[in-house]
Amino acid sequence: MKNLVILISGRGSNMVAIADACAAEGWDARIAAVISNRPDAAGLDHARAQGIATAVVNHRDFDGREAFDTALAQVIDGFSPDLVLLAGFMRILTPGFVQRYAGRMLNIHPSLLPAFPGLHTHRRAIEAGCKLAGTTVHVVTPELDHGPIVAQAVVAVRPDDTEDTLATRVLAMEHRMYPQAVRWWVDGLLDHTDDGRIVLRTGESQLLMDGAPDNPGDAP
Ligand code: GRF
Repeated sequence: MKNLVILISGRGSNMVAIADACAAEGWDARIAAVISNRPDAAGLDHARAQGIATAVVNHRDFDGREAFDTALAQVIDGFSPDLVLLAGFMRILTPGFVQRYAGRMLNIHPSLLPAFPGLHTHRRAIEAGCKLAGTTVHVVTPELDHGPIVAQAVVAVRPDDTEDTLATRVLAMEHRMYPQAVRWWVDGLLDHTDDGRIVLRTGESQLLMDGAPDNPGDAP
């Protein structure tokens, strides 16, 4: 049974999607804890309601990133994690923290990486005139929003999209894709290639398309 520790900062809808899939599909895993750097994160209430252990490590209580990351790692390690999942965790991590969980920490980022690392991804995609947007699950490496790609989901950008409408459609894809990607990891189905990519041993697609197989007809 694998121990999953999920880090959040806010709403926690991806965390809920993962917890729901884990329970419904009977994964060989459990959500050992949900940890937030913000005491008021709404996701904490959802986790508690599901009987999941929660903890808060408030970044405001620490003087600098190193001290915060050290304290956070202590709390994480108290739950004996096999895999650490960043799900809307809005903190830049120190290299030492990333190294501690090397190869066993995943993140979801709301863009088609390597395009648009950082914030305001949907606004930037619309402003750039992108016709496709999406989201990426990747292995966490020291560089922000980088690292080997585990899965991507794409949605068409519609001419009348706003940041909010695009974000809503991308989030719906995240809730399908992140649990799937975590399950691949739990089931031991992800292999590293010699050139640093991650491939799925089953040969299944690591790309999820909105409305597939009718995706092109999806957009107006
Ligand atoms: C998601 O869009 C995720 O890609 C990004 O932050 C958002 C978190 O949403 N990293 P939620 O807290 O899971 O609802």
